[in-house]
Amino acid sequence: MKSLADRLITWHAKSGRHHLPWQQSKDPYDVWVSEIMLQQTQVATVINYYHRFMKKFPTIKALADADEEEVMRLWSGLGYYRRARFLHEGAQMIMEEMEGVFPSHFDMMMKIPGIGRSTAGAISAFSFNQKKAILDGNVKRVLSRYFLITQWTGLPKTEKKLWDYAESILPDKNIATYTQALMDLGATICNKKPMCESCPLKKTCLAFQKNKVHLVPTPRPRIKIPTESTHMVIIKHHDEVLLIKRPQGGIWSGLWSLPQYENKSATPRAWIKKNFGLDVSLIEKDLKASTIFTHYKLDITYSILEARSQRAKSPHAWLSLNTIEGAAIPAITKKILLKL
Ligand code: ADE
Repeated sequence: MKSLADRLITWHAKSGRHHLPWQQSKDPYDVWVSEIMLQQTQVATVINYYHRFMKKFPTIKALADADEEEVMRLWSGLGYYRRARFLHEGAQMIMEEMEGVFPSHFDMMMKIPGIGRSTAGAISAFSFNQKKAILDGNVKRVLSRYFLITQWTGLPKTEKKLWDYAESILPDKNIATYTQALMDLGATICNKKPMCESCPLKKTCLAFQKNKVHLVPTPRPRIKIPTESTHMVIIKHHDEVLLIKRPQGGIWSGLWSLPQYENKSATPRAWIKKNFGLDVSLIEKDLKASTIFTHYKLDITYSILEARSQRAKSPHAWLSLNTIEGAAIPAITKKILLKL
């Protein structure tokens, strides 16, 4: 029997994904941007964002010199906006502290914001042919099935075990192809609807052999998350809406959002008069939307109001409804506005 790595590499030549835009380059900057985008987002979504981002910021220097606002705009819709801020800060760090050259040393890579052990492993393998392991969500699933690890993979102890396994199966040659093959297997075969019959590893996959593929990885023990509620207002003036920039830190940090208030006893009209000095007439009230964060669910009650003028006090911007799609606005705000 050939080694696991050899079987994966052979499988990849025939059945792997070969035409993804970031695979056309070994340049660590190109690989870095793609790996950060792919951390929490599917390949199909990333492709267009990746092209746009690389066209606008083709080099580390171009990204380092960019306005944060511009970086956020190109990220808008991808979610997990911290990643964009990390890339931007990372580019500045490379320019200022690493002589403008993306580091090839693993420990140096790990100093860059947003690059953890798995991302550093992927860049080391793809760009520098270094024998380093990766362990993202897909790979955790593959390995926990292959080695039949039944503890929840979110536990530090389980994670340590998975890293040890991930390192123990690395090939001495073809590390880049192997790494891509492992990612592709996790995405296309060993996924939530596994296709074990087509899997090159089935003969030695413990979960498959013991008929337990659907039981691993063991799901996270269910903890109920709390629900919070808040009020927002859509203040319109013809085809423009009033948005405010969210403070740094907190949710939606730095993005343009609907004005939000907590005082349940205030009417939207009174609150708008007090905060923006605007006279408005009510169009529709008590509409509902909700969104989920890692630690809580947020129920939003919102009203739509038409302003008589655009002379509002306190910082704000008026944005035309047909530019919403490409703006640096949280996904839920976009969803609400696109219903208008
Ligand atoms: N997920 C994370 N990195 C990836 C890559 N290089 N190709 C496909 N999916 C990925």
